[in-house]
Amino acid sequence: MGGKKTFYITTPIYYPSDNLHIGHAYTTVAADALARFKRLTGHEVWFLTGTDEHGQKIERAARSRNQSPQEFVDKIVQGISHLWTRLEISNDDFIRTTEERHKKVVAAIFERLYRQGDIYKAGYEGWYCTPCEAFWAESRLVEGNCPDCGRPVELLKEESYFFRMSKYADRLLRHIEENPGFIQPVSRRNEMVSFIKSGLEDLCVSRTTFDWGIPVPFDPGHVIYVWIDALTNYISALGYGTDDDRLYQKFWPADVHLVGKDIVRFHTVIWPIILMAAGIPLPRQVVGHGWLLLDSGKMSKSKGNVVDPHVLIDKYGVDAVRYFLLREMAFGSDGLYSEEALVNRINKDLANDLGNLVSRTLGMADKYFRGVIGRPGPAEGPDADLIALAGETPLAVEEYMDKRDLSSALGALWRLVSRANKYVDETAPWALARDPEARDRLTTVLYNLTESVRFITVIASPFMPLMAPRVWAMLGIAGRKDLHTWESLTWGRFPAGTTVKRGDPLFPRIDEAR
Ligand code: MSP
Repeated sequence: MGGKKTFYITTPIYYPSDNLHIGHAYTTVAADALARFKRLTGHEVWFLTGTDEHGQKIERAARSRNQSPQEFVDKIVQGISHLWTRLEISNDDFIRTTEERHKKVVAAIFERLYRQGDIYKAGYEGWYCTPCEAFWAESRLVEGNCPDCGRPVELLKEESYFFRMSKYADRLLRHIEENPGFIQPVSRRNEMVSFIKSGLEDLCVSRTTFDWGIPVPFDPGHVIYVWIDALTNYISALGYGTDDDRLYQKFWPADVHLVGKDIVRFHTVIWPIILMAAGIPLPRQVVGHGWLLLDSGKMSKSKGNVVDPHVLIDKYGVDAVRYFLLREMAFGSDGLYSEEALVNRINKDLANDLGNLVSRTLGMADKYFRGVIGRPGPAEGPDADLIALAGETPLAVEEYMDKRDLSSALGALWRLVSRANKYVDETAPWALARDPEARDRLTTVLYNLTESVRFITVIASPFMPLMAPRVWAMLGIAGRKDLHTWESLTWGRFPAGTTVKRGDPLFPRIDEAR
């Protein structure tokens, strides 16, 4: 398959300190929709996710349960990959930072930076936030607490290794200025530019107070700072620096690191500087999405106000949960989670708009033509308008996807869904059915509706992967893979003479009183 454009997308690697919640699921579902969309539009995709298993936070969580850290994470990681399976996540690889393939790359990069003088040893005293695994200068603390999460920090005094970040600040600023797409959305980019301009301090990159981590190869009493360890996953998973680095050669630099806004700083300051120092090209883009909030604030394991994705999947189904997350979170902004908002989206967008369009189309085809979709006649009335919008929608969706704006992409798709529903009202097939002279017109109307459903299903498939096979079966084109592709989105490809059949409602209404 030479010549295909490649696309490498990553999620953050999650801390297996507890089971994941719906906020984490958002990040992975968004990355999955992008990965599937790129595959659909002809790219060769590599989609990576994984787990960030070292550090004091994990060590403490394990100890409080009387387990070894490895035992503890093994169990949680199993749960995480099970969750991704249930959510139809199509990742190509899953990296765990406790794997040998990862550890050796981290150790080699650390050693290289030390040998070339970018990492040095010095005495250290500073404040550390364990939940965030982040160091803070005293001047940045807010009322003595972590400026990010507001929790208490601990004073650390030790001999440590430091990374000369300051040396690369100017180069990093220049890179950000010359590559306007590097940090998205723009608001995040501006935040990072002022952060860097306020001056970068050298970063403490080793610890001696615990040992659940990757040892500094030439000074094994120290373990490597967990963020240096974690960020390196994006290249260790590709075999960087090993005998078999074909994936690295093919897919690096990454096209998108998708991350939450809380960790944009690590990805746009520390990570690029590690790469610059190691002489490795920088990723093309870091996208920082907003948070999924509850009335009670940001969902977090430590606050105990988490929503379990399994419960929602059991209740509402995978496609509905995915749709809600991707539609509700406007690009870059926070979104409010409530079960009521989820039920509203399901009832309005999925049951009422999309579900009804499909069931009305198939129901009328069944009733008026015993399910056979005939050859359309000349365009009349609203036909041209519907067909034009169907033609524009793939382009509009692709443009939004390229801006990583998934919720607007779904918005563009739903304009077509609404247009098709309006077409039913405008053409009033039930009235045409009463007029024997209007048989040809009725045939055309049903053809246009069926072809609209096909367009909508292809475009929806990266977002709601379970819906497409069900619709293909109903449309009688399950075996016609050529009609499920992005290239097939030219109007009129649906084969006249095909028999369609109604099925169970795609998205049943949820009784709000439940
Ligand atoms: N282990 C680090 C990432 C290392 S990447 C080299 C980490 N892990 S995490 O498990 O705490 O968070 C992973 C991702 O989940 C982050 O991008 C974070 O923003 C996201 N989310 C956690 N809670 C969230 C919400 N409530 N809403 C949206 N995203 C959320 O950070």
